Amino acid sequence: MTTILNVQNLAKTYRMREGMVHALNDISFSINKSDFVSITGPSGSGETTLLMALSGLIRPTSGEIIFENNNLVTASDKELAGYRKKHVGFVMQNFSLIPYMTAIQNVMIPLGLNGHSEREQKQLSASVLELVGLGNRKSHYPRELSAGQQQRVAIARALVNKPDIIFADEPTGNLDPSLSTGILEFLQKVNREFNITIMMVTHSPQAANYGDVKIRLDEGRLCN
Ligand SMILES: Nc1ncnc2c1ncn2[C@@H]1O[C@H](COP(=O)(O)OP(=O)(O)O)[C@@H](O)[C@H]1O
Ligand SMILES: [Mg+2]
Repeated sequence: MTTILNVQNLAKTYRMREGMVHALNDISFSINKSDFVSITGPSGSGETTLLMALSGLIRPTSGEIIFENNNLVTASDKELAGYRKKHVGFVMQNFSLIPYMTAIQNVMIPLGLNGHSEREQKQLSASVLELVGLGNRKSHYPRELSAGQQQRVAIARALVNKPDIIFADEPTGNLDPSLSTGILEFLQKVNREFNITIMMVTHSPQAANYGDVKIRLDEGRLCN
């Protein structure tokens, strides 16, 4: 078993005018490369904050997040940007596609950031869109796609850089149960066949069952 993320005593406090919000308190766990992790908890329990910290989108207040012998908590901005570009894919509940870009242009974005040529960007993005079953929707704009298709474009965009970890924040939260199953099965395939670690926040017990490791949060703390 290879450890991919080791989290020690992680805390995140948001300082607001009204006072401090302790979104995460003393969180410690370790995730293996092959894991499909589901993260559950009541709304407001810190799930999104945890995913954003682990994916290098926000800075924790204290603690350690070790990825490949580097501590993301004390990494420089440049190192953190490199981690996001090379190792991480992110899927959100609202798909977060760019509305004025076609499906393939949306998928090309991370490749552009990683300095691939235009030709490579198009080839790789087309093949990943094929993989998610949208080979015939490449030039569709998000508004011309169904919700399930939009989420598959978002997953293609998260996959295209061949990340080590995909973080998914309520990826089926806006989808019908039948479409949700398709997305969850696909994430499971990504986990098993491409050996990509999945960390997924969900409020659906059915979705949480896809996790072979389960993390539960309550008021910013880990419950067991
Ligand atoms: N950017 C922010 N600034 C201030 N407080 C925040 C911010 N983001 C989240 N919070 C607060 O932190 C707590 C955890 O939020 P969040 O991580 O979004 O929870 P969840 O995803 O589990 O619903 C909540 O009390 C929320 O109000
Ligand atoms: Mg959330």
